[in-house]
Amino acid sequence: MSVWAVLAAAGRGERLGSDRPKAFARLGGRPLLAESLERLEGSDWIDQIVIAAPPDWEEPSILVAEEIAATKVSSAVRGGDSRSESVRLALAEVPEDAAVVLVHDAARPLLPDEVIERVLAPLSEGWEGVVPALRVSDTVKRVEGDRVLETLRRDDLVAVQTPQAFLADALRRAVSGDVSEATDCASLVEAGGGRVTWVEGDPRLLKVTDAADLALVESWLEEE
Ligand code: CTP
Ligand code: MG
Repeated sequence: MSVWAVLAAAGRGERLGSDRPKAFARLGGRPLLAESLERLEGSDWIDQIVIAAPPDWEEPSILVAEEIAATKVSSAVRGGDSRSESVRLALAEVPEDAAVVLVHDAARPLLPDEVIERVLAPLSEGWEGVVPALRVSDTVKRVEGDRVLETLRRDDLVAVQTPQAFLADALRRAVSGDVSEATDCASLVEAGGGRVTWVEGDPRLLKVTDAADLALVESWLEEE
């Protein structure tokens, strides 16, 4: 069973406000992209990797792969206008015979190998998609403008991370339609009636959104 990874790294990183795309912001003295790429490269679960790079950063992405002596990176493709578009474009580079595709955000640099193992396992038990998630500890309310409409049952809520694992065919079907509204790949599989399950995520998979997140992830990296 061959497992391909798609590394979604094509975002602009507007909320981080760096002078370059977020994937190339500095983390531990290297481009942020290097951290998750190195962890995918080092995972025995992953066979090949396709990077969705920011437009005009395809070359520099390959250079990052070369700097960490990665042997599994098959290509870096130009990403799209949205995350789902970027995943769709990268998926076009994944060969038809790939059985499983793992989609990961470069914005979540600290990728533990245990989570890769956890999201892959349910795919051999009849699930088409698997997401890592954390239980929600805050009380969550649905609002409309200023008005609070209702309080959601916390027991029914989880906060979802990446890497997300999919049977390749299910992911291909999911991204073939209108993907403009989707913030993750699993929601597209769910929308098509696909069977998606969740496993325990990891707090270290924090998504770097702003400068404070970057500083926090940097401090965790120093502790490792
Ligand atoms: N992503 C992508 N292609 C896009 C937009 C996002 O591959 N067109 C990727 C980002 O590179 C990131 C992940 O999806 O790894 C999650 O997106 P987000 O955290 O929103 O990153 P950005 O879109 O870069 O940040 P911002 O929204 O602040 O501009
Ligand atoms: Mg974004």
